[in-house]
Amino acid sequence: MNALRAVVGSRTMVPEVVVTPMRRRHLRAVLRIEEHTSSTPWSHGLFLAEARRPERIYLVARMGSTVVGFAGLLFALTDGHVTTIAVDPERQGARIGTRLMLVLLREAIARGATAVTLEVRASNEAAQALYRRFGFLPVGTRKGYYRHPDEDALVLWAHEVDTGEYAARLDRIEASLDSPLLVERLSVLPSSMVPGSSLSSNMVSSNMVSSNMVSSNALPNSEEQDGSA
Ligand SMILES: CC(C)(COP(=O)(O)OP(=O)(O)OC[C@H]1O[C@@H](n2cnc3c(N)ncnc32)[C@H](O)[C@@H]1OP(=O)(O)O)[C@@H](O)C(=O)NCCC(=O)NCCS
Repeated sequence: MNALRAVVGSRTMVPEVVVTPMRRRHLRAVLRIEEHTSSTPWSHGLFLAEARRPERIYLVARMGSTVVGFAGLLFALTDGHVTTIAVDPERQGARIGTRLMLVLLREAIARGATAVTLEVRASNEAAQALYRRFGFLPVGTRKGYYRHPDEDALVLWAHEVDTGEYAARLDRIEASLDSPLLVERLSVLPSSMVPGSSLSSNMVSSNMVSSNMVSSNALPNSEEQDGSA
């Protein structure tokens, strides 16, 4: 049986997607997804070192206790740089990447980002479509940036992400999701959870996960500190 499905009576329940800070306990699943989605996969040590550093945001998307995607961003002053994003190949196309980008960008903006950049393989149509929706535009290429196979990177930027206009873009993307954007242990609430927001009235769900307003700087040193799934 698919581990993500629980049969209750005659109904099959599929757990909601929840976005939460990356924890050490998530790394095994993160590495499995990384191995299947990257031609130059990061190691356990690199994820651990990266996510523990200050000026970083590392998130996972999970369904129940199963990690189905992850994303990361580093800061260089007020510029955010998306370092990684990947979704379990079996779950791609289900808007999990969209959820991760929404939360990553809102967290980055809340922590002072005014512009965000990233690199993407010139041939990676799916990722480019995702980034276009978030307002990223190509500004140049990095020759031979990728290996296995060798390929140029497109350099994309989204500017003025700290404006009301960009916040409205993110709200529209959130409103287009077919179920509420759920976050846990993050400082920024999705619009659907902000009282009085235009999204809150029609997207509040009874199984909504509350934010407990802790820092998004993740990966506590011990498992004991980590009470989440
Ligand atoms: C790129 C990636 C993270 C997107 O995550 P995802 O959950 O599959 O994407 P979503 O379902 O949120 O789709 C968002 C948009 O991307 C585009 N998209 C997604 N899959 C696509 C595909 N196979 N072909 C073309 N466009 C696609 C669509 O525009 C989609 O919007 P829509 O749902 O309104 O049609 C995922 O495909 C992935 O992990 N790819 C491998 C790793 C990778 O390439 N990472 C990016 C490195 S720069």
